[in-house]
Amino acid sequence: MPLNLKGRSYLTLKDFSPEEIRYLLDLSHDLKRKKRAGIPGDLLRGRNIVLLFEKTSTRTRCAFETACWDEGGNATFLSNSQMGKKESLEDTARVLGRFYDGIEFRGFDHRTVEDLARFAGVPVWNGLTDRFHPTQALADIMTLEENTKKPLSACKLVYMGDARNNVANSLMVIAAKLGMQYTAISPASLKPEAALFDEMQKLAETTGAKLQWSDQVKDVQGADAVYTDVWVSMGEEALFEERIKLLTPYRVTEDVMRLTGNPGCIFLHCLPSFHDLETTTGQEIHQKYGLTEMEVEDRVFRSPNSKVFDEAENRLHTIKAVMVATIGRQ
Ligand code: CP
Ligand code: NVA
Repeated sequence: MPLNLKGRSYLTLKDFSPEEIRYLLDLSHDLKRKKRAGIPGDLLRGRNIVLLFEKTSTRTRCAFETACWDEGGNATFLSNSQMGKKESLEDTARVLGRFYDGIEFRGFDHRTVEDLARFAGVPVWNGLTDRFHPTQALADIMTLEENTKKPLSACKLVYMGDARNNVANSLMVIAAKLGMQYTAISPASLKPEAALFDEMQKLAETTGAKLQWSDQVKDVQGADAVYTDVWVSMGEEALFEERIKLLTPYRVTEDVMRLTGNPGCIFLHCLPSFHDLETTTGQEIHQKYGLTEMEVEDRVFRSPNSKVFDEAENRLHTIKAVMVATIGRQ
């Protein structure tokens, strides 16, 4: 039976089978080739989408908008809606569902995106919540596939840093679904959340994935990709001092990349990244704590093994795939 994702929401990768995730990845590679070949698209012609943002964004917003336009659709960006202030979430969802064919939401509480999906009557896509960032994980795995000849089932993905944040959660889920080796390296207080880890371990028994947590940087050995994210996620700004203390030993340095023992190991980061002093936050942290970089050394960030800008571009192709698969004309 052909795979059909029409009408489905995309809230977390947990809701998708390995075959469905494979389908989204294949579609992403196809859509990237099509865009590179300059072939105009019309798979979202006649479709209207709305982008509901409670938090800031560069990549996610721009990827949804350009992906939509590339395929002939229309997008509305909404960061000042009545939702939760003068109008309930339920009423807002019902209204948006009358206007739009799909709704993207980025915000604080994961329950908000679930409730939107419950009431909207159209697909809802999670553009990041406190728990998951599932469009990011698709782009991350797509980038790994572009940089390795091995099947994913033979790849080791290492995540270093805050291993219980939204990005790490989604990476662990996608790795478990696709039968990969996933190693989270962090201090014990930031290890993957037990309930999610156990749930994914159970799944790993059926997919062949190998999930591991370690507080030892040496366990980066054998990695095909080393991944990190900011030490302090949006909404957690009060935690800078504590996180700097906890996570400085887990910065991705040239030594860490050497410890992989794999000269072809790539570096990945969802971005934005604190790798230099060219931001106001970077400057504030520098003045307060004397750091010139946080989760990754500037030299690693700018090295040939760093694929962070391919990864950022791949947000466009993967988000396009999610929209085409769930509301497209194909
Ligand atoms: N990676 C990511 O989600 O980037 P933005 O916050 O810029 O959307
Ligand atoms: N963990 C980060 C990801 C940003 C794309 C955050 O939530 O701020």
